[in-house]
Amino acid sequence: AAAEKGGYDTFMEKEIFDQPHAVGDTLLGRTDEAGHLVLDELRISEEQLKNVDRITVVACGTAAYAGMVAKYAIEHWTRIPVEVSLAHEFRYSDPIVNERSLVVSISQSGETMDTLMAVKHARELGALTISVCNTHGSTIPRESDAVLYTHAGPEIAVASTKAFLAQITACYVLGLYLSQLRGGTFADDAQAVMKELHEVPAKIEELLGTMGRVQEIARFMADTRSVLFLGRNVGFPIAMEGALKLKELAYIHAEGFAAGELKHGPIALIEPGQPVFVVVPGPDTPHELHKKVVSNIQEIRARGARTIVIAQEGDEDVVPFADEVIRVPRTSPLLQPLLTVVPLQMFALHLSTAKGLDVDQPRNLAKSVTVE
Ligand code: G6P
Repeated sequence: AAAEKGGYDTFMEKEIFDQPHAVGDTLLGRTDEAGHLVLDELRISEEQLKNVDRITVVACGTAAYAGMVAKYAIEHWTRIPVEVSLAHEFRYSDPIVNERSLVVSISQSGETMDTLMAVKHARELGALTISVCNTHGSTIPRESDAVLYTHAGPEIAVASTKAFLAQITACYVLGLYLSQLRGGTFADDAQAVMKELHEVPAKIEELLGTMGRVQEIARFMADTRSVLFLGRNVGFPIAMEGALKLKELAYIHAEGFAAGELKHGPIALIEPGQPVFVVVPGPDTPHELHKKVVSNIQEIRARGARTIVIAQEGDEDVVPFADEVIRVPRTSPLLQPLLTVVPLQMFALHLSTAKGLDVDQPRNLAKSVTVE
């Protein structure tokens, strides 16, 4: 087993370090020489895809957070409304899905029963179904009209890491492809985004080389009973994913919130010493979201929170209000989740290790939940 872990102590750590490949391999072969997206493997006619007037993502757990990240990007690039539905909620909610709907399921294993049942239900309703999946020949791709494989390689640790990055990547490729196909206002930019996506693996690599401080922070926090995570826009699902990782791996109560929601409730939770991770949008994020999140950090700090801030290199605005700053390489706003989630995964891994817990097989959880 030691050899299978490639020199790492746990599968999870190995899989975190595999992430540059997970993203890179998922991008492979999806553009032609001119840089246009090609998705021959999709086996759904262009005509059918042009007809789509809404997209529903169905997934569970970490895969659902990948869907929530993708929603922001796909809506921006295609102007098609995207809804994200937890697969187990979808089926029994009388979903508005028909022949013009595209239902995208996201599943690492391809065997999650809730997701499978949602896909079957969507097909009964006449929807086109695409499976974003990491496991060749698994059930969900077989039950779908088309499949877009993520090439993260086998994921062994129960808590999903590299599959998550690969899922976001695959959904982005799909969104860019749809945008190119439908020729909207954004279509010309699709190639530029693809080019930037290709630069992400090297940035993840660079980031992985700077995680020493995160490990130290985790070690100091082994006795912590509650951790909050804030994010905004694509950083919001990342905040929830950071909280999920901590629940799964370290059995610590953790919640992710949309930073803008803070004043509508969660700020009441802030008391002296409360650790709060803040995923800060890059300074070039539209609508001054960067400034707004920086002022959220200021507000919680004034109430005694211990702020651990994930910010882009060169972002000095956060410094006065941060107890800790974790730097991520620069990239454009929609691609930031592929970087900002990495320190959160590392934090959960090292906190779990510091508590002496089983990182790869947390209690009560299964890698793939094949019952409803
Ligand atoms: C389980 C795992 C999670 C995973 C979820 C969805 O609950 O513990 O880590 O995110 O299933 O799995 P899937 O294979 O469908 O992506």
